[in-house]
Amino acid sequence: MKTITLYKNDIHKGSLILVNKFFPIVRSEDDILMRAIDDDNQDIYLESTTAAVLSHMFITLNCQENIVPISGYRSFKKQQSIYEKSLRDNGREFTEKYVALPNHSEHQTGLAVDLALKRDNIDFICPDFPYQGICNDFRNKAPLYGFIERYQKGKEEITGIGHEPWHFRYVGYPHSLIMNKYNLVLEEYIDLIRLYPYKRKHYLTYLYNQAVEIFYVDTSYKSIELPEDAIHQISGNNVDGFIVTLWR
Ligand code: DAL
Ligand code: ZN
Repeated sequence: MKTITLYKNDIHKGSLILVNKFFPIVRSEDDILMRAIDDDNQDIYLESTTAAVLSHMFITLNCQENIVPISGYRSFKKQQSIYEKSLRDNGREFTEKYVALPNHSEHQTGLAVDLALKRDNIDFICPDFPYQGICNDFRNKAPLYGFIERYQKGKEEITGIGHEPWHFRYVGYPHSLIMNKYNLVLEEYIDLIRLYPYKRKHYLTYLYNQAVEIFYVDTSYKSIELPEDAIHQISGNNVDGFIVTLWR
């Protein structure tokens, strides 16, 4: 067995952090490694793994000519200015539905990207990303790469945000696949994994014959023991603990 030390402050780091109206971003912006998506999108930054996977998706799905990223990482100041401009231009009801309050936006984590079908006059807040053609192909394949459509229709009460067909969130594979299969938003997925704590039965899934275990560790643990031969990934949930993924 190998011992992994856990630091309480790290519950605010990782690809599964929940950022919504109840749980603000806690990490400092300088703490996240960002990079531009690719040469065609030099001005749009994302957390480095998120950027690399999105760029890979654009190439493998050959959709660079038709799908454009329009917003990625935003600083606190940028989110604040978008929020205030939207309040002036669109009013409170619309803004609360489609723009997160500063420090409550996934865009500040670098793990979220807004995508648009390429055409003239793209709406910056509500871009068109239809449920057909190349955009829907992208949407259907996204969970295979670790991305999910974050703000789904019918889940507005849970996410606190209106239906946003254009906003994709990197949560990492295989979490994206499980969320997609069982139609769970991130809030629901984090609740589900909490039912599988470290010392009890773990969530088990098989991906092409490979067993993957997923479990929750609360912040009372200062370290955990993991099998020597398993590859592990750990993300905070930004609420109350860690989500551990073990590739057996
Ligand atoms: N449009 C999403 C909710 C944001 O502003 O983060
Ligand atoms: Zn967005």
